[in-house]
Amino acid sequence: MSLEDNFNFEDFRRVAKKKLPAPIFHYIDGGSDDEVTLKRNTDSFSKCDLVPNILASVGEPDLSTKVLGSKIDMPLFLSPVAMQRLFHHEGDKASARAAEKFGTFYSMSTMATSSIEEIANTASGPKMFQIYIHKTQGLTDNLIDRCKSSGFNAMCLTVDTIVAGNRERDHKWGFTTPPKLTLKSLMSFATHPMWTINYLTHEKFQLPNVSQFVKKSSSIAKGVMEYINEQYDPAMSWKDAEYCIKRWGGPFALKGVMSVEDAKRAIDIGASAIMLSNHGGRQLDGSRAPFDQLEKIVDAVGGKIEIIVDGGIRRGTHVLKALSLGATACSFGKGFLFALSAGGQKGVEIMLQRMKEELRRDMILLGKKNIGDLSKENLAFRD
Ligand code: LAC
Repeated sequence: MSLEDNFNFEDFRRVAKKKLPAPIFHYIDGGSDDEVTLKRNTDSFSKCDLVPNILASVGEPDLSTKVLGSKIDMPLFLSPVAMQRLFHHEGDKASARAAEKFGTFYSMSTMATSSIEEIANTASGPKMFQIYIHKTQGLTDNLIDRCKSSGFNAMCLTVDTIVAGNRERDHKWGFTTPPKLTLKSLMSFATHPMWTINYLTHEKFQLPNVSQFVKKSSSIAKGVMEYINEQYDPAMSWKDAEYCIKRWGGPFALKGVMSVEDAKRAIDIGASAIMLSNHGGRQLDGSRAPFDQLEKIVDAVGGKIEIIVDGGIRRGTHVLKALSLGATACSFGKGFLFALSAGGQKGVEIMLQRMKEELRRDMILLGKKNIGDLSKENLAFRD
C-alpha cells in the first residue's frame, strides 16, 4: 500500500499503529484517565450541522487567513508536539518542511528533538515556538532569546501542563526514552524492526533546546510524566506569562486557555492569541472540549484577541465549524502525527493536502469564497 492510499486521519492512524512500537503509538494516541475528554474533543463537532448557501458564485475560494502576525495559506496549522524524532527519524524537520510547503505554521515544542537553530535553517515558513517553563533558572530567557535571533515568528506558552496528566497507557506500556527493555516492550520493538533500525541508525535522541540546562534531557528514563513533574514549574503564574510576552515582544499565544475569565485576563497581559485547548485530552480528563467552549469565548473576547481552536480536529469540516463560530484558525497534533509516523515529511504533506482539499471543496459546497464569509449563520445546533 502506498502512502497516497491514505485518505484521512483514521487511515494514517492505522498505518502508524502497525509501524510504531506500542509504547510510542500509545503515547501519541492516548489521553488521561478514562480518555473522556480525548473522545469528546472530536465528538463535540457533531453537536451542530453545516447549513450551505447555494448559487453563491464562489468560483475558487481563498483559504488564506492571518494569525499571530503571519498570513497563512490555510486556516489550519501544526500544533507543537514533543519528541517527534521518536515517531519518525526525520522528526521535526519533516513537520517543519511539510508546513512550509503548505504555507502554514509549524510549531516547535520546548521538548523538540531538533534545536531552534536547526529548524530555523531547515524551513523558512512561519514558525511558532512553544514554551514550557522549567524550574531551572535562565532556561526561559535562553529559549526566548534564541527564538528571536533565529527569526521565529510567534511564541506560545503552554499553561495547562504544570503537572502531568495521568496517562495510564504510558504506565501500561512503559513509555520511556531510550525505550525501556522490559519483556513487553522488547517484543514490541522486535516486531517493529524498521522503526527500531531507523531509531538506532539516525541521530541520537536528545532534547537540544533544553540540554544545556537539564542534565536528564538525553534520556527520559522514567517517562514523560515524571519529566514533567520533576522539571516543570507548578508555581507558574500570570506574572510569568506576562514576563514572557514582554521579553518576546512579538505575537504571543497562551495555549490551554478554556475559561472566559482567563481569556479576558490574557488580553489584559498583552497576549495576541489564546489557544483553546485541553492538551489533546492528555491533561485534565473530564474537562471541556475546545469547540464546546468556543461560542462563550467568542461572545466574551471575539475581535479583541485571536482565538485558535486546538483539539479533536480530524476533518476540514471541523475547521469550518470552528471558523463559523468565530475562531481565527485551528491547529492539530494527532492529526498530523500519525501521518508523520506513517511516512515522515511525505506523510505530513499528504495529510495537509487532504485537509486542504477538504477545506477547498467544503467552502465551495457551503457557498463561501473567503474565510471571513463564514459565520454562525452556517451552523445549526442540535438540541
Ligand atoms: C505531552 C507533553 C510533553 O503532552 O506536551 O506529552
